[in-house]
Amino acid sequence: MLLGDLYLLSMDRIVVQRSGPLAGEVQVPGAKNSVLKLMVASLYSAGTHELTNVPAISDVKTMGKLLESLGLTVEHGIGESGVLRLTNSGTITTVAPHELVTSIRASINLLGPLLACRGRVRLDMPGGDDFGSRPIDMHMAGLTAMGVRFDINDNALSAEVDHLIGAHITLDFPSVGATENLLTAAVHADGTTTISNAAREPEVADLCDLLVEMGAKITGIGSACLTIEGVPRGALHPVTHAVIPDRIQAATYLAATAIAGGDVTVRGARPQDMQVLLSRMNDMGLEITAVPGGVRIVSQGRMRAVDIQTLPYPGLATDYKPLLVTMLAVAEGMGVVTENLYPGRFRYVEELSKLGADIRTDGHHAIVRGVEGLRGAGVVAPDIRAGAALVVAGLAAQGRTVISGIEHIDRGYDDLVGRLVGLGALIERVDVPVTQGK
Ligand code: EPU
Repeated sequence: MLLGDLYLLSMDRIVVQRSGPLAGEVQVPGAKNSVLKLMVASLYSAGTHELTNVPAISDVKTMGKLLESLGLTVEHGIGESGVLRLTNSGTITTVAPHELVTSIRASINLLGPLLACRGRVRLDMPGGDDFGSRPIDMHMAGLTAMGVRFDINDNALSAEVDHLIGAHITLDFPSVGATENLLTAAVHADGTTTISNAAREPEVADLCDLLVEMGAKITGIGSACLTIEGVPRGALHPVTHAVIPDRIQAATYLAATAIAGGDVTVRGARPQDMQVLLSRMNDMGLEITAVPGGVRIVSQGRMRAVDIQTLPYPGLATDYKPLLVTMLAVAEGMGVVTENLYPGRFRYVEELSKLGADIRTDGHHAIVRGVEGLRGAGVVAPDIRAGAALVVAGLAAQGRTVISGIEHIDRGYDDLVGRLVGLGALIERVDVPVTQGK
C-alpha cells in the first residue's frame, strides 16, 4: 500500500476470523516512536539526511508534512522502500500548523530542536492517542531551567530563548517526551546539561545515537543519567541512520501467535529491548527463545494467567498492555493488570467485552478472568495499540470480528494485515461503503 492512500482508506474495516496455528517468519519494521523523533533531528543541519528501515505508517506521513511546513523537503520510498530522505536547505520557519500538530503526539518533539536551532517556536498543544490528560509540565520546567520563556494562550504555546544555558535537571518521572525535548535542546546549549531520572527507552537511546553520529556530545546513553555537552549551532552534520526495530509491533506478532497457537519467528525483534515482556510470556507458558536476528515463539495449549503492571523502561511498556490484556482474556485463570502510566488507558476493555472477554476495571486496575473462547462481533479501535489488540483478539474469536476505526492502526502499524496473512491468519482489509454499517 502507498503511504499516500492511508487517509483515503479510513472507512476500511479489518475482518478477522478464528485462525491458527500460525507459522513462518515475519519481519518487524522500524519503530514509530523512534522514527518520528529522528525525522525532527533533520532540523539541526542543512543538507540531506537519510533514514533507513522507516515504517510505512501514517504518522510518518504526518510528521513529513509537518516538517515540510517548516521548510524541509521530505521524500519517502523513492527507489528503495523504507528509505526516507529529508533535505534541509538551511531556511526553516518556527511556526507549526494547527491541523498537523494536533494529529500526532510527537509534534511536541519540535520544541527542543527548534529552540536549539532558532531560539523560538510556536505550536498548538499536540494531539495523539486520547488516554486522558497528557501534560507537558516536565518539558516546560526543564526548558525553563535552561532559560526558555513560555507563553501559553488558548492551547497555543510560544517559547523563546536568547541563549540556551546548560542546567542540571531531575525529572519527577522518566518521561520519554520530556527527556527527548531536554536533550535535543541541550545539544546547542552553553555548557553542560545533565538529565537525571531520564527515560531509558530504546527509542530515546536511538535518538541519542543519531545525534552523536551527527556530532552532538552525549554520554550515559541508555542510562537514567544523560550528560550533554553543548556544541555550537552549525556543528551538526547530516548522516544516514537505520531506525531501530519496533518492539511494540514485534510484540504484536508474538501476541498473535500466543493467541492463535503456532511456531513463528519474529525477525528483527531485539530480545534485549523486550526482556520483561518475554519473561512474562514465558511465565504464561509460552516458549520464547532468542534466535539469531530475532525471537521465536512456540505456543501450544492454553496460556496461564499472570499479574502484570506497566512501568517505564526497563519495566513492562504500557504500549504492550492491550496485547497482554487480550492474551489474559483467553488464558487459564485470573490476572490483575495495573496501569501506572496512563489512567485512561482501559477504554478498549469495553470493545474486548463485546467479543466475550470477562474484564472488570477499577481505576488503574483491571481484573481479567480468562474465558475458553471469544466470539466475533463489530468493534471499534480506540487507539493504535488497542486497535492492534482487537485484531489479535479476533484470531481467537468464533465467527467474524469486524474492526472499524482502523485509521488508528494505520498510524503505527506497517501492513499489519499483510504480515498476519503471511503467517497464515484468516484476515483481510475490506472497503466498506460509508453508508453501510459495520
Ligand atoms: N507526563 C506528565 N508530564 C509531562 C510529561 C509526561 O505528567 O511533562 C506523564 C504523562 O501524562 C504520562 C506519563 O508521564 O502519564 C508518561 O508520558 P511520557 O512523556 O513518557 O510519554 P510520551 O512521550 O507522551 C511516548 C510514546 C507513547 C508511549 C509513552 C510511554 C511517542 C510519540 N509516544 O509518549 O506511545 O506510550 O512514551 O512509553 O513516543 C504509542 O506509540 O501508541 C504511544 C502512546
